[in-house]
Amino acid sequence: MQISIRWKLIATFLGLTLGIFLLVEFFIGTGVKRLLEEKERTSLSRDCRIVAGVLSNKLEDGNAAGALDSLVHNFSALLEARIIIYDSLGRVLILSDVGSIPDFGNAENPEVRKALDSGEAMRLHSTENGEILHYAYAFRRGARTLGAVRLSRPMDLQPNFAIYRMISLTGLVCVVAVLGLSVVITGRIAGPLQRMVRFANQVAANYFDKKLFVQNKDELGELAAALNSMSQRLSRTLEQITSERNHLQAILAGMEEGVLVTDLQGKIFLTNPSFKEIFSIAGPVEGKSVLEIVRNVTLQKALTAAIRNRQSMAVEFTTNETPPKVLELHVVPFGRAGFSDQNGVSGLVAVFHDVSELKQLERVRRDFIANVSHELRTPLTSIKGFAETLLDVEKIDPAQAREFLETINRNVDRMSRMVEDLLEISRLESQQFDQPPAPLELAEFIHDAVRSFQELSAKKTIQLQLELPEELPLVLATERTLEQVLSNLLENAVKYTPEGGHIIIRAVALPQEAIVHIQDTGIGIPSVDLDRIFERFYRVEKGRSTDSGGTGLGLSIVKHSLQAIGGRVWAESALGSGSTFSFALRRADIVPVVDEQQ
Ligand SMILES: Nc1ncnc2c1ncn2[C@@H]1O[C@H](COP(=O)(O)OP(=O)(O)OP(=O)(O)O)[C@@H](O)[C@H]1O
Ligand SMILES: [Mg+2]
Repeated sequence: MQISIRWKLIATFLGLTLGIFLLVEFFIGTGVKRLLEEKERTSLSRDCRIVAGVLSNKLEDGNAAGALDSLVHNFSALLEARIIIYDSLGRVLILSDVGSIPDFGNAENPEVRKALDSGEAMRLHSTENGEILHYAYAFRRGARTLGAVRLSRPMDLQPNFAIYRMISLTGLVCVVAVLGLSVVITGRIAGPLQRMVRFANQVAANYFDKKLFVQNKDELGELAAALNSMSQRLSRTLEQITSERNHLQAILAGMEEGVLVTDLQGKIFLTNPSFKEIFSIAGPVEGKSVLEIVRNVTLQKALTAAIRNRQSMAVEFTTNETPPKVLELHVVPFGRAGFSDQNGVSGLVAVFHDVSELKQLERVRRDFIANVSHELRTPLTSIKGFAETLLDVEKIDPAQAREFLETINRNVDRMSRMVEDLLEISRLESQQFDQPPAPLELAEFIHDAVRSFQELSAKKTIQLQLELPEELPLVLATERTLEQVLSNLLENAVKYTPEGGHIIIRAVALPQEAIVHIQDTGIGIPSVDLDRIFERFYRVEKGRSTDSGGTGLGLSIVKHSLQAIGGRVWAESALGSGSTFSFALRRADIVPVVDEQQ
């Protein structure tokens, strides 16, 4: 149980007062006792001398023993003392009556012997009934000792009851006064103290709204003022820290790069949402080791090396996930005051930058240049070859010359088609539209496209089948896009389906989109190539489409033109058993939901 400071102070005051009171009483008591004893001694010796004086005259006058006897008795009664007269050898001559004085005998009387020797002597004699004071005085005549008189009286040293009563009363008054005063004084100290304790507890619980009012103009007042200013400063500092932390969190949350902060043992103490997104981590990671969270040898090596060498470093690595991501990692050691080692380092900041897309773009760009050069070189070589041959005019007959010229013409056509396609893609990429997307009848375009491929498919004995719902919604598109997409996909389906095959065109209306599937029973696409067929110039097997005059730009045009009007395209295929190309278009009858973030 906690005893309040107020009660402690009151108890201390009371204890001190009681102690002082007892000390005072003790000293007064012993002082009074000594005083009384002194008084007793003086009065006994004085009485004894008087008795001795009177008796010695009587003795000298040779009074009869009987007269002396009554004198002694009278004195004894008068002085309230026992009187014994001794002869010079110390034998008792006259013995007063016992009277009210207790009989303490007379066997032991060293004081008498001493008085006979030296004139007078005093002895305090303790008996069962209390202390008796004896005083003996010798009768002398000249140098001769005639005898001695001894007066004995009980020592009544008990001080007057009135004195004790007075002392006790004073003590009681003191105690009551001290109690009252201490209640008042401690109240003035303990009250503000208790308020300060409550205030300090509130501050400790981060509650800074209140102010402490203490009016004392002493140390308590100063303490209260100090507590107030401390609370204000603490509140400001806390606000500052909170706002800085919020800033930091906002920055970290807004960063596209993944951020990871660890201590020197590799324990994580901070990450940002991008980090978790990059490594597909759910749940808290703080306090765990990096190894537990991301299992990647290159990353581990980089972190270990940065810790060991206390040096910044940068590496590029590929994650073990599917699909793998290419990450650029920068590790920087940092120091925190109070937590650093002898090199001033206390942890690492690792920043992960996802460069997969960049790498992919780089590869596409490299492939594109290589492809364009390659695609142009073949017809150019052929044109040059035939042109050189034709220069030798005399050796060539007109029929052969015509054949050569036709080949040259075909190659030029192929080249110009390719250049057209490239221009189309670049136009789509730079978002230059002839016309903006408008509501169009999808079904009409599908029918037109199918009609235009009827002849070609019939030639290859491929059956074209149409499965359209009764009503197809209007879609948001441009005429050019719809024609381009449908003709490219149908052309591919016919081109990559052997004779006797089947092509089914289906359309479905979903709540937000209309989807068209073009399914064929053709040669199919290996799954490794499926992701890449929409890239420029990408062909599954280079030989496959060059024979049929393809450049590998068709699907790229399809993808770009659909993207330009807010649509998308995808493919599913199994090698040898056919492919399904699907594309989605926004419905025109749906008011588009405006997403402000996009
Ligand atoms: N329906 C399909 N069945 C099987 N493979 C296909 C089909 N459609 C496309 N492909 C494969 O995808 C590759 C890319 O097609 P894309 O239309 O872009 O080029 P292309 O048809 O070769 O030439 P282009 O269309 O420019 O004349 C083709 O080379 C082919 O290998
Ligand atoms: Mg094609």
